[in-house]
Amino acid sequence: MGTIEDQDVVTLRDVTVDDLPLFFQHQLDPEAVWMAAFGVAGVRDWDEFAAHWARSLSDNTRVAKAVLWNGQVAGNVSSFVLFGDPAVGYWIGREYWGKGIATRALAAFLEVVTVRPIYARAAMDNIGSRRVLEKCGFVVIGEDVGYARARGAEIDEVVLRLD
Ligand SMILES: CC(C)(COP(=O)(O)OP(=O)(O)OC[C@H]1O[C@@H](n2cnc3c(N)ncnc32)[C@H](O)[C@@H]1OP(=O)(O)O)[C@@H](O)C(=O)NCCC(=O)NCCS
Repeated sequence: MGTIEDQDVVTLRDVTVDDLPLFFQHQLDPEAVWMAAFGVAGVRDWDEFAAHWARSLSDNTRVAKAVLWNGQVAGNVSSFVLFGDPAVGYWIGREYWGKGIATRALAAFLEVVTVRPIYARAAMDNIGSRRVLEKCGFVVIGEDVGYARARGAEIDEVVLRLD
């Protein structure tokens, strides 16, 4: 019988406030912040980060799930309304990258959040995120330019949709 470390199991559960300090640490990683680029990515102020999540957790238009890998919290995946349309986003802690966790977490999430079409946006150069989306069936429907707070600049982004 294998140990839990051998299992490579990805599961989802509701986010709780107890998850937030770890999510805060995840989104301080400079490489990850550069990738994510948009929204509150890279917020260094705990109060701002916690307030953002408090609003999310009390907003019934949003669904937020903690991503567990072999029972350990590895990140989060969520849905929200973006420019009037349902959209998804996710963040996996850097120490968990490259194990297929984001792909499996998003696929599981899309069985919970079944509204379609559903959209996603990623920085044009966020190849990993784009690949995760395409593996889950999203297709590129356009490009846009948006202000990326984490980079302090307007950058190109790609818009994807899952029907
Ligand atoms: C993007 C991110 C979610 C990927 O998480 P992950 O668990 O490592 O992704 P997976 O292991 O499921 O990888 C899925 C695919 O993307 C590829 N990929 C992942 N990261 C990559 C990178 N940095 N560059 C190129 N390809 C990458 C993988 O090779 C895999 O492709 P393959 O199956 O064809 O080999 C993670 O790096 C992250 O959370 N980054 C910071 C936050 C962020 O960018 N969020 C998305 C905002 S739009």
